[in-house]
Amino acid sequence: MGAADTDRLAGKIAIVTGAGSGVGRAIAMMLADAGAIPALVGRTPATLHETAAEIAARGGRSLVASADVTDEADVGAMTERVAQELGGIDILALAAGIGRYGPVASYSLADWNATLATNLTAPFLCIRAAIPNLRARGGGSIVAISSGAGKQGYPNLAAYAASKFGLHGLLQSLAAELGPEGIKVSAVVPGSILTSFGGRSEDDKRAAMAADPDKKYLEPDDVAAAVLTILRQPAHVWTQEMNVWPF
Ligand SMILES: NC(=O)c1ccc[n+]([C@@H]2O[C@H](COP(=O)([O-])OP(=O)(O)OC[C@H]3O[C@@H](n4cnc5c(N)ncnc54)[C@H](OP(=O)(O)O)[C@@H]3O)[C@@H](O)[C@H]2O)c1
Repeated sequence: MGAADTDRLAGKIAIVTGAGSGVGRAIAMMLADAGAIPALVGRTPATLHETAAEIAARGGRSLVASADVTDEADVGAMTERVAQELGGIDILALAAGIGRYGPVASYSLADWNATLATNLTAPFLCIRAAIPNLRARGGGSIVAISSGAGKQGYPNLAAYAASKFGLHGLLQSLAAELGPEGIKVSAVVPGSILTSFGGRSEDDKRAAMAADPDKKYLEPDDVAAAVLTILRQPAHVWTQEMNVWPF
């Protein structure tokens, strides 16, 4: 008997946003390795197909479901398609996000709006669209990727921090709203991750680490592993927030 036969995630259907890169891709890969079927969501079909090809090469199954998660109609159509083609929705893993950093004094309204739309409004849209499907399964799990900047403000991160602080307000309210129906709502709160995010390439970050032994990053797999730990917990256990830091 393989791992997928015994894993509590085997056969579960999961929407994974941001699945074309970084943390979202790592979550999708781990879910597929566990025998779940991730629907791969992002704006760039080419990168989603790369994730799908990697999953297929490892013997897993996935569905490419491109969508702009800031677009209400797109999110609605994507959710309906996933539920129809895969037969339901059990899990929502929300990793899509953007990091546009800069001082407030010169920060553009366009960047502010894009940050709030992607990091806060999009989770609201994705969760709202999925609720009827989670209810139809008699329960489910929602896990969103926040950030240390969702708990503490930093210079040049005002818009990003505001979006992630807001995300915690959304998630805490939803946890109380949906918990009685068997839907668990959780946040993973990571420190810096070795991905091309926030205007710095992965190579740039590797070079910073090589130059300064105190500079540390998490790997995308570290954050995905936290998500999988939450998703594998027994029905009577709920982790509201999991803080994960480089060490
Ligand atoms: N990297 C860090 O240091 C760090 C630290 C703490 C928390 N986080 C959080 O971790 C999460 C994942 O980030 P990452 O580090 O893995 O960076 P990443 O590789 O840039 O991943 C972000 C993903 O979000 C997708 N995305 C962005 N806007 C979207 C939209 N409108 N519609 C659909 N998909 C969209 C991107 O794909 P497309 O561009 O193809 O749409 C991309 O695949 C984010 O929520 C981020 O805030 C990151």
